[in-house]
Amino acid sequence: MKTLFTEQITDKVGEEVELFGWVASIRDHKKIVFIDLRDRTGIVQVVGGENFKELSAEDVVWIKGEVKKRPEKLVNTKIKTGAIEVEAKEIKIISKASPLPIPVAGDGYDVDEEARLKFRYLDLRRPRMFRNLELKSRTVTFIRNYLTKRDFLEIETPILTKTTPEGARDFLVPSRLQKGNFYALPQSPQQYKQLLMVAGIERYFQIARCFRDEDPRRDRAYGEFTQLDLEMSFVDQNDILTLIEDLFTKLVKELFPEKHITKTPWPRLSHKEVKAKYGSDKPDLRKNKNDKDELAFSWTIDFPLFVEQSKEDFFYGSGSAKFAPSHHMFTAPNPQDIPLLESDPLKIRGLQHDLVLNGYEVGGGSIRIHQPEVQKKVFELIGFTEEQKKQFGHMLEAFSYGVPPHGGIAPGIDRFLMAVLGEPSVREVIAFPASSGGKISVMEAPSPAADEQLRELGIKLR
Ligand code: AMO
Repeated sequence: MKTLFTEQITDKVGEEVELFGWVASIRDHKKIVFIDLRDRTGIVQVVGGENFKELSAEDVVWIKGEVKKRPEKLVNTKIKTGAIEVEAKEIKIISKASPLPIPVAGDGYDVDEEARLKFRYLDLRRPRMFRNLELKSRTVTFIRNYLTKRDFLEIETPILTKTTPEGARDFLVPSRLQKGNFYALPQSPQQYKQLLMVAGIERYFQIARCFRDEDPRRDRAYGEFTQLDLEMSFVDQNDILTLIEDLFTKLVKELFPEKHITKTPWPRLSHKEVKAKYGSDKPDLRKNKNDKDELAFSWTIDFPLFVEQSKEDFFYGSGSAKFAPSHHMFTAPNPQDIPLLESDPLKIRGLQHDLVLNGYEVGGGSIRIHQPEVQKKVFELIGFTEEQKKQFGHMLEAFSYGVPPHGGIAPGIDRFLMAVLGEPSVREVIAFPASSGGKISVMEAPSPAADEQLRELGIKLR
């Protein structure tokens, strides 16, 4: 196992070291040749002679040499190893690299994105992308530690499941054993986490993959993305907001110490207020929008429970109903407004909360309906057919066996990181994102199925 990272050799002056890495660049000065050797921690300058003449960029090499101090005037303060260099005694090329189809030095923003995605394993060699993946990993680890310390259980829920409408189209997976039937990939674990509350888990979370067939945008990945999905029993909205505010404040302090939060406690603004004042339910409350280290968190609350149904709400009703849920159909009405369910549904405030950061909606959640009769009424108002109501019969049945009041939230991990890092798109924080056409270019997915596979599934293509 490799023990020495490039970054660790700065205090090894006079010592012999062994290095493994990629040749990032070559500068041939005839008698002596300089290379920058790169590993995941950075680069170090290595000096060689004739033995460096066959090297080409991105070869993987092993080098044995001595760490030397650089003369004062050749110190490079821009890199961590800029005060030293390694004088190579031996070098072995472990693996030769062909000329690369995309450059891997630099931040890569100016390289064609389709090409970056097709050669993603090369694109990820650039330090910016490594850092993004590293910070994502550390973010997830921080969240896990924080929540498990507070008695949350991390529980997996099925990927091959039934529709969980979050306003997008489902991905369907044909069943071989139940021919003619299809699983849907979950748009979120919403129903399962509520069923876990019925089961008495009380505090649940999951780093959950969600699947949605909707058009991609800068802040919306196509196909799949990751949420911190969380649910609690016997809580009110304030408990959820307080927990999430504490979690993200500590996370920012530990992992992004250079960032400062505009205002604490985070402003809690009513939907009506933000729409009137900022014309948006996700206002950008930064004091100085040019300051890349400013993070303006806020909560938007008191959303209307329903919005007028539009053509895009294809899931609900059958075009006949007037109302669609503002968040989703399990969101509880404000108890004071329950009488309006009969008289004036559009006036009802829902117990929904959106987590907003620098103008992005980075999380959404709510207190849930736990009374079957209220849930039935909501199904009616959004125009569910008998068939659609049956699809959610398991929820109503579960709620008839003793259900705790409960609520939760799901911050999007990718979107949060995009906002914190000031990246122009969520694809910059996902290792292998789909391209705009929904293609995973590295693997050339999706791809046709063999006749034999289709026959086994009882499927004939139109
Ligand atoms: P919602 O649909 O609002 O709520 O999603 C919650 C958060 O998930 C992130 N997100 C996305 N991130 C990247 N690409 C996408 N395509 C994408 N879609 C959503 C956003 C968003 O705020 N089940 C409910 C949560 C709950 O009620 O507890 C839900 O999924 O950051």
